[in-house]
Amino acid sequence: MMLVKLGGSVITDKTQYRTFREDVLSRLVGEIVSAGKEVVLIHGAGSFGHVLASEHHIQNGYTDESQIPAAAKVMEDVRDLNLRVMRVLNDGGLPSASLPPSAVATLRSGELDELNVDLFRRYLEVGICPVTFGDVALDSERRFGICSGDHLMERLARELRPERVIFVSDIDGVFTADPSSDPDAMLIEVVDRTILDSLPRTQRCADVTGSIFGKIEKMLRIASWGGDAIVLNGNVPGRLGAALRGEAVRGSRVRGDAI
Ligand code: IPE
Repeated sequence: MMLVKLGGSVITDKTQYRTFREDVLSRLVGEIVSAGKEVVLIHGAGSFGHVLASEHHIQNGYTDESQIPAAAKVMEDVRDLNLRVMRVLNDGGLPSASLPPSAVATLRSGELDELNVDLFRRYLEVGICPVTFGDVALDSERRFGICSGDHLMERLARELRPERVIFVSDIDGVFTADPSSDPDAMLIEVVDRTILDSLPRTQRCADVTGSIFGKIEKMLRIASWGGDAIVLNGNVPGRLGAALRGEAVRGSRVRGDAI
């Protein structure tokens, strides 16, 4: 089984509130279907989640009453995105079931606490791809918070032990310097703890759930349980399909058992 996260920066236009990139998702779903692998899918919230969530500081938990309608609206918006994603998946030949974190997960102090992983296993057993996504969820200490797709990736990787963990992003991976300002920036193809700690933390500004560095941190933890993990650019046709088929592909990877 392959665990894949389709980043919100790929399936939405992150700069424009609630803008779905259906064409990009359709192509990615085509790559998943033709690779013929069993998958568990997670998708990010992109501009359906981050814009309102950061305006109302939902990631910090409850601070004032004005956040209540905002938290509910973010849940509505990410469900709307999820429904659009589900249509593309089912119409594209990947029978899928949605498992929203607001219904199947809880947080404790901003970290993922409970997640009903058994539901994911049971959908896989009946041949239906379980799909979850970045969402607002209840928090036992802070009333509510953000359950990010990256946290879900980490938990599902630990519990389901996939063959490969793939983060589909809008950049090729992690670079030696910020590629948008430094023409000499080079892609780091294999990342380990020492390399990560030596990098300047200036690539990409963080949104409410973190940057490329947060992803690599999670990939290192996933790798310490024995799984290979890779971050690749989903805007380049063919890369996700190649990674699913186990072919060499441009991206940054962390090898199983790396620390
Ligand atoms: C964020 O989820 C969830 C909300 C802001 C509600 P993710 O962190 O997984 O989303 P992307 O991939 O960064 O858009």
